[in-house]
Amino acid sequence: MTTAVAARSDALFEGLTPQPPDVVLSLIRAFAEDPREGKIDLGVGVYRDAAGRTPVFAAMKAAEARLLATQETKSYLGPEGDFGFLEAIAPIAFGQSLSAVCMFGVQTPGGTGALRLAAELANAGRPGARIWLGTPSWPIHSQIFAEAGLTVRTFEQYDAFEQRLMFEEMMTALGRAEAGDVVLLHGCCHNPSGADPSAEQWRQIATLVAERGLVPLIDLAYQGLGDGLEPDAAGLRAVLAACETAMVAYSCDKSFGLYRERTGALFVRAGRHQEAARTNVLKFARCAWSMPPDHGAAAARIILEDEALSAEWRAELETCRRRLASVRQALAEAEPRLAAIGEQKGMFSILPLTPDQVGRMRQDFGVYMLGNGRINLAGLTPSNIPAFVRAFRACAEE
Ligand code: LMR
Repeated sequence: MTTAVAARSDALFEGLTPQPPDVVLSLIRAFAEDPREGKIDLGVGVYRDAAGRTPVFAAMKAAEARLLATQETKSYLGPEGDFGFLEAIAPIAFGQSLSAVCMFGVQTPGGTGALRLAAELANAGRPGARIWLGTPSWPIHSQIFAEAGLTVRTFEQYDAFEQRLMFEEMMTALGRAEAGDVVLLHGCCHNPSGADPSAEQWRQIATLVAERGLVPLIDLAYQGLGDGLEPDAAGLRAVLAACETAMVAYSCDKSFGLYRERTGALFVRAGRHQEAARTNVLKFARCAWSMPPDHGAAAARIILEDEALSAEWRAELETCRRRLASVRQALAEAEPRLAAIGEQKGMFSILPLTPDQVGRMRQDFGVYMLGNGRINLAGLTPSNIPAFVRAFRACAEE
């Protein structure tokens, strides 16, 4: 016979409230469940070719085959991951070796893992440290930073209706930041607007960040999809040339088509505190995932260490870049109100639409995008661009 009601162990979870679904990832399911033919997915940032597919790069297939044939063990590598991968990424991102740019690197599960590690490091160095974030930004940015304990300060970076980078406003805001504050900078192909600073503006950003003693955290997730691998690294390199300290969150998910393999790295230059920063990063990595997933990084390393595979990968990435540029041109030519898209870079742009108009695009025309009008241009193809433009005209004019 039971005499007393057992104590409720679920009291542990009493303080939890249900969280809203992720604004980017929830679009994947909503789109899949839409039965309409002719629906258009401009949601999650995944590259697609003109046939709407996201194929594995041929260079990646070859590297994976080689990995399968030659890998002798899957024993642990350690919390840093694959040193060969880190050293191979450095010349692509920085144009130099890691030692030449005075940085250490740690392989991470995607760029998201790198951002989280960077945030943990900053918060460990100075609990509750401020991070300055231009808005709109990749939606998860502010959540990652807040979850790690940082104090997120925002400033307006892009005006979606005037379709312009708010550079002066950005510089004014950063002029209020204080020494030791972190500033998040999108290295290239600004997610969500595609509106990147010019070379001269990057120079001014680098000077201001250095003069004010700010710590740049550069998120480089789309290298090669803007103007090409080298030009896309120019902003990052200008900032690194000017600043004593820096953190770089690097993602291979888009540039190597590795998405679900979660392949990225955090690179850090911490001035006098380099060794303390390095060992703290290793501690956070150990506590979070112990060892990063190997497969994607090992395959990317094989590509980068092999001249022929590397050339093939570069050519494939260039094909992706050109396709995105051609979609931009097609939109700019088709509709004057989309002309700014032709000047922007990478996978994303923000349409000059209100949230209601975005809702109508989805409801009436089956065109899916983020609520702020962010579109992934790779979802557009020569065959669906006319339908997209018709939908845009109908909704923008209502
Ligand atoms: C995006 O912005 O859509 C991508 O980077 C995917 C993601 O994780 O949000």
